[in-house]
Amino acid sequence: MILEPVKPFRSCEYAVKTTTEAWEYRAARTLRQTVFCQEQRLFEDNDDDAHDHHAITIVALAYVAGGPEEVVGTVRIHSDRPGIWYGSRLAVARGYRRDAHLGSALIRLAVGHARALGCESFFAQVQAANEALFQRLHWRTLRYQTLHGLEHALMRADLSHYPPLPEGRLPLLTRARRAS
Ligand SMILES: CC(C)(COP(=O)(O)OP(=O)(O)OC[C@H]1O[C@@H](n2cnc3c(N)ncnc32)[C@H](O)[C@@H]1OP(=O)(O)O)[C@@H](O)C(=O)NCCC(=O)NCCS
Repeated sequence: MILEPVKPFRSCEYAVKTTTEAWEYRAARTLRQTVFCQEQRLFEDNDDDAHDHHAITIVALAYVAGGPEEVVGTVRIHSDRPGIWYGSRLAVARGYRRDAHLGSALIRLAVGHARALGCESFFAQVQAANEALFQRLHWRTLRYQTLHGLEHALMRADLSHYPPLPEGRLPLLTRARRAS
């Protein structure tokens, strides 16, 4: 008897939104730990920093049977002076990468929501391996820098490509109807 390998289940429907529930926030923090501590080893066992005290956390939720089931992506946005905003800790769970454009959708909501909150310039320290992804999404590199032992590009979003998103959520995404 030949047994076919069973493909892992992956949702076809996703919501990308600012966190409103405690479990969403907790799951986003767990995903960050998994990606930045265990997978990338950028931090030993904790990637928290001072921005977490005031940042807005955004999540990508996988939907099952019409309801939210799991946090499969996250990013946070923060501002240190009027008009100047940053995005950081962008992560998509391993099995969901390059699949439903979740990373692009998280970036779209991050910048769009910051714009709705008065953002005039939006920056991120982007791992050099992801620079091409951000360039495709209308970001420009300003300079390079080594952070946590890894080359990063300081990049700036072209805000003309990011309409303000005051509601802090995107319409539901499906694999068939991609995000960018
Ligand atoms: C970077 C990351 C968030 C991207 O998320 P993602 O959901 O896979 O990205 P998307 O599906 O939205 O990518 C959009 C397109 O860019 C491509 N792309 C994604 N990452 C890319 C990269 N690093 N370089 C070049 N192209 C890339 C995708 O293949 C896709 O192409 P398509 O339109 O032809 O299908 C994800 O890979 C991740 O979590 N990586 C580990 C953590 C990390 O590196 N965080 C970022 C720190 S700056």
